[in-house]
Amino acid sequence: MTDRLNGKIALVTGAGNGIGRATAIRFAAEGAKVIATTRNAERGESTLATIKKAGGQAIFIPANIRNKSEIISVVKQGHDHYGSLDVLCNCAGVLASKPFLEQTDEDFELISQTNFLSYVYAMQTVIPYMIEQGGGSIVNIASVSVYKPELNSYYYGAFKAAINKLSIDVAYEQAPNKIRVNVVCPGPVLTGMTPISADNTAAIQALADNFSIIGRMGRPEDIANMNLFLASDEAEWVTGATILVDGGTNLSGPKFVPTAAEVLSRD
Ligand SMILES: NC(=O)c1ccc[n+]([C@@H]2O[C@H](COP(=O)([O-])OP(=O)(O)OC[C@H]3O[C@@H](n4cnc5c(N)ncnc54)[C@H](OP(=O)(O)O)[C@@H]3O)[C@@H](O)[C@H]2O)c1
Repeated sequence: MTDRLNGKIALVTGAGNGIGRATAIRFAAEGAKVIATTRNAERGESTLATIKKAGGQAIFIPANIRNKSEIISVVKQGHDHYGSLDVLCNCAGVLASKPFLEQTDEDFELISQTNFLSYVYAMQTVIPYMIEQGGGSIVNIASVSVYKPELNSYYYGAFKAAINKLSIDVAYEQAPNKIRVNVVCPGPVLTGMTPISADNTAAIQALADNFSIIGRMGRPEDIANMNLFLASDEAEWVTGATILVDGGTNLSGPKFVPTAAEVLSRD
C-alpha cells in the first residue's frame, strides 16, 4: 500500500464485482476515499467491508444505473458526503451475448442504458464539480472487442466503441478545465462476466490460450492497476488515450502459421 491517491475522492461504478470491485479496493488501498456503487446490496456491502477491513475509507451507495435519476443521485450523494469528487471510474457493464439476428430491442435498451448512458450521465454530473474544484480524472472501461471482430456481442461492441469516441471528444472539450478523460480496454478477464465457471480450470486455460499471447486470463487487478495509474497524478499528461490492457489479445491470431511448403503440400 502506498498513497498514490492520497486525499482524492473516487467514485467507482460496478464496484460489487470483477473489475469495479478490484478498482474500488485498489483505490482505497492507495489512500482514496471511495464511493462504491453497484446494484446488488450484498455485493456492494462486501466490497465496503473488504476496504474497511484493510483500513481504507469508503461508502457504499446502491443504485440501478439503468435509471438516469439513480446514477445522477449517486454522484450527487457521493459528492455531498465527501465534499468533492476527483476521480470517476465507470466500470459497470453487462453483456447480451447472442447472434446478431437474435439481438432484440430489450438487448439494445439493456446495453445502451448500462454500458453507455450511465457513463454519459455520470460524466455530465461529475464534470461541473470537477470544474469547480479545478480538475479531475475520468476513466471509462471499454473493451478490446472494439478492435477485433467478435461474435455474439453486437450492441455490446458498438456501445464500447461509442465510449471510446465520446471519451476522446470529452477529453478534448474538458482539457482546459484540467479534466482528463481516458479509456481502458480490457481483454478477457475472469469476472462475473466470464461465461465459464472459475472452477473449470481446463476451459479457462483454453480460453486464455485462444485469446491472450501471454497465456493467461486477465485478473481484475490487472485492469485496476491501469485504472489507478490513470486516476493518479502520475498520469497528469495522459488524456484522450485509449489503452489496451489485454494480455496481447489484440495481437493474437492463429497460434500455428503453416509454412509455404506445408500449404503447397496440401491437396
Ligand atoms: N470481464 C471481461 O472479460 C471484460 C472484458 C472487456 C471489458 N469488460 C468491461 O469491464 C467492465 C466490468 O465488467 P466485469 O468483467 O468486472 O463484470 P462483472 O464482474 O459482471 O461486474 C459488473 C458490475 O457491473 C454492475 N452492474 C451491471 N448492471 C448494473 C446496473 N443496472 N446497475 C448497477 N450496477 C450494475 C454489476 O453490479 P451488480 O452485481 O450489483 O448487478 C457488477 O458490479 C464492464 O464495463 C465490462 O464491459 C470486461
